[in-house]
Amino acid sequence: MVDLSFRARCLTARPDAVAYFDKTSRGRPMDVTKVRAEFPILQRKVYLNSCSLGALSLRATAYLESFQELWHELGASAWYGPWWERLGDLRSRVGRFLGAPVGQLALLPSTSAALSVVAESVDYGRRNRVVCTELDFPTLAYQWAVKPDVELVVLPSHDGISVDPEQFAAAVDDRTAFLATSHVLYTTGFIQDLNALADIAYKAGAYFLVDGYQGPGQIPVDVTASKADFYTTGPLKWLCGGPGLSYLYVRDELVQKLQPRITGWFAARDQFTFDLEHFEPQDDARRFELGTPALPTVHTALGGQEIIDEWGIEAIRSRNRALTEHLVERARESGFQLTIAPDPGDRSAIVMIKHGDPPAAVAYLAERGIIVDHRPGHVRVSPHFYNTIDEIDQCITTLAESPR
Ligand SMILES: Cc1ncc(COP(=O)(O)O)c(C=O)c1O
Repeated sequence: MVDLSFRARCLTARPDAVAYFDKTSRGRPMDVTKVRAEFPILQRKVYLNSCSLGALSLRATAYLESFQELWHELGASAWYGPWWERLGDLRSRVGRFLGAPVGQLALLPSTSAALSVVAESVDYGRRNRVVCTELDFPTLAYQWAVKPDVELVVLPSHDGISVDPEQFAAAVDDRTAFLATSHVLYTTGFIQDLNALADIAYKAGAYFLVDGYQGPGQIPVDVTASKADFYTTGPLKWLCGGPGLSYLYVRDELVQKLQPRITGWFAARDQFTFDLEHFEPQDDARRFELGTPALPTVHTALGGQEIIDEWGIEAIRSRNRALTEHLVERARESGFQLTIAPDPGDRSAIVMIKHGDPPAAVAYLAERGIIVDHRPGHVRVSPHFYNTIDEIDQCITTLAESPR
């Protein structure tokens, strides 16, 4: 007889992952050796690029193996049983983690897809302006750059680090449909004040849309308390869950009020009646969904999310702050200039180090087993809770030796 119990499957698939399944480390000091044992890349490399891609854990691998095993064993029946259950598990776990009440979270294939669905949920007849910043990720602005009837306002950054809320206040008015910006700026690691921006949007009657891809997993986030109307994030980076999914939170009254013009059968209330003549949307945020989600990622995302939940976001943030401040100090001691927030309280674990030839520096480090990334004019170093002070020292010492 086939055993559909997922836990049992995981235990068979990878016995060394067993020890972690039932333990809750929340509230206890972080045992870094134990954390690191979950992530094999840390035994092979100095991995300091979590803002591009979080490390893959043994836990995620065990989930993935169980996914494959169920596929071998059950074929399509896996879909109707355990895979469907996993989808529900992920939705509830992520909802709890983000502070999104039940029914206010949609799963989509990427941040770009989530933003597209939101951008196609409103009417631009009376309000056709969208305000974002030059420090946001381009995929945000592109949603409206392709709509000829929308006036896209891209606010400049005067210090290259952040954008003053006063600039938003001056640009967001009664013609504005969306104030759309990031929680954490991928360009500088700056953490924006969401409540201040929400107030600006609400005062003008505009929607407040947040691209939170660089936030959850490295800083505490409560989407309801943030006062965002829409908040997108995903498992790829700080949540260590891999590519292929995004999470979209929609504020409660908007769930019922809006009906996206991009859609699919997962958004339909009676998904399995196969009625082409009538489309009735789901009553909850699933009306923002499209089609079949990436099931392998649903599994790897569960693995990453479990680990983050077990250690607890407060402990992770506190460790990341310590790593970040050490990195900042070491880089400055070595003579590097940084593009980061002046106030450490506004900084996240994305550290931008000015460099004359960033691609060459990144290649130099990679040849020596140190993985970082580059963005124009900068080497970008992003430690996560599984990194150590020694790794940061190694990275900065090697960077200082690289041709500048
Ligand atoms: C802040 C931010 N938003 C959006 C994206 C792109 O997301 P996706 O490829 O899922 O559309 C990235 C990717 O690095 C990002 O850093």
